[in-house]
Amino acid sequence: MRILVAGGAGYIGSHTIVELYTKGHTVVCVDNLYNAKLSAIKNVEKIVKKQIPFYKVDCCDKKKLETVFKKEKFDAVIMFQGYKAVGESVKIPIKYYRNNLDSALTIIELMDKYNVHNIMFSSSATVYGKNAKSPIKETDDALRLNDITNPYGETKAMIEKILMDKAAADSKFKAVILRYFNPVGAHESALIGEDPNGIPNNLMPYIAKVATGKLPYLNVYGNDYKTKDGTGVRDYIHVVDLAKGHVAALKCYKSKKQNLFVYNLGTGNGTSVLDLVKAYEKANKLKVKYKIVGRRAGDVDKLYCKPTKANKELGWMAKLDIESMCESSYNFENKK
Ligand code: UD1
Repeated sequence: MRILVAGGAGYIGSHTIVELYTKGHTVVCVDNLYNAKLSAIKNVEKIVKKQIPFYKVDCCDKKKLETVFKKEKFDAVIMFQGYKAVGESVKIPIKYYRNNLDSALTIIELMDKYNVHNIMFSSSATVYGKNAKSPIKETDDALRLNDITNPYGETKAMIEKILMDKAAADSKFKAVILRYFNPVGAHESALIGEDPNGIPNNLMPYIAKVATGKLPYLNVYGNDYKTKDGTGVRDYIHVVDLAKGHVAALKCYKSKKQNLFVYNLGTGNGTSVLDLVKAYEKANKLKVKYKIVGRRAGDVDKLYCKPTKANKELGWMAKLDIESMCESSYNFENKK
């Protein structure tokens, strides 16, 4: 298939483009480079040994995006565009709602106009809200009402709803919603990976900075959770496995029976903060200094999924272990 990848220069988009090419698909990439660099696309080109058509376009800018729809032909759109920092979304919520909703609506309207019917959306486990009980199944989303803890998460749930309403109204429109758990790690080439601006908010990129001596120590947010060692438990998934999940999900577009698909993409394994620190030390033969500090607002004790629906229906399963997540994260951070 030929696929328009919106936000393709970012962390998950760039890894997905690599896996799409590996399976013989081609892409057109659009990105406004707000939180991504053109060098990521250049590095993807080195990995796949192909030139990737790239347009520096903000997906909220309908006129500009329409020039891409006019010029290029594609069979599907994958939406990775969107702001994604939880803490920032609490501080500047309107910017989050405007950007994330506007870009999604603009893309869907243009798809309608140019007869593109297949869409895939990068959603998040955050839509399950703070009261969901792990392991979480896709059917647990009824729990999410009023439970989402931040505007970023609200935008994910709202865009899901928009896609669900559109799919209900238009049988030709086929929507795949992928709810990611905690994507980490980098491509084995160390050419692409997670490269947040400033001090990282998320655990793995923070550990990478400590391991490479760029930050002095990790703050472990709380050791009094109801978990085996008191630290928060999450479902870390290698970004390459996650990217392969998107390629596997393209098969949904062949379905004649349904036009809305929702999948959890995770490993199903829970890993604590201290487990991850230890795995990082072991995989890379180094020490990660840390201090236990107070809990971070909004955090939950455990969040991991039951990925069996994606396993069965998509024939996809996360294969890479924690060690390779830690090793690839360190190699990427070191090479930067
Ligand atoms: C958050 C978001 C999720 C988003 C993901 C991006 C929520 C509730 N969570 O997940 O939607 O998709 O980021 O990957 O909206 N920790 C530390 N020290 C640190 C950083 C984190 O101890 O410096 C701990 C946290 O308390 C938590 C675990 O590490 O227990 C994972 O945190 P993080 O990587 O920030 O991801 P989430 O909060 O799970």
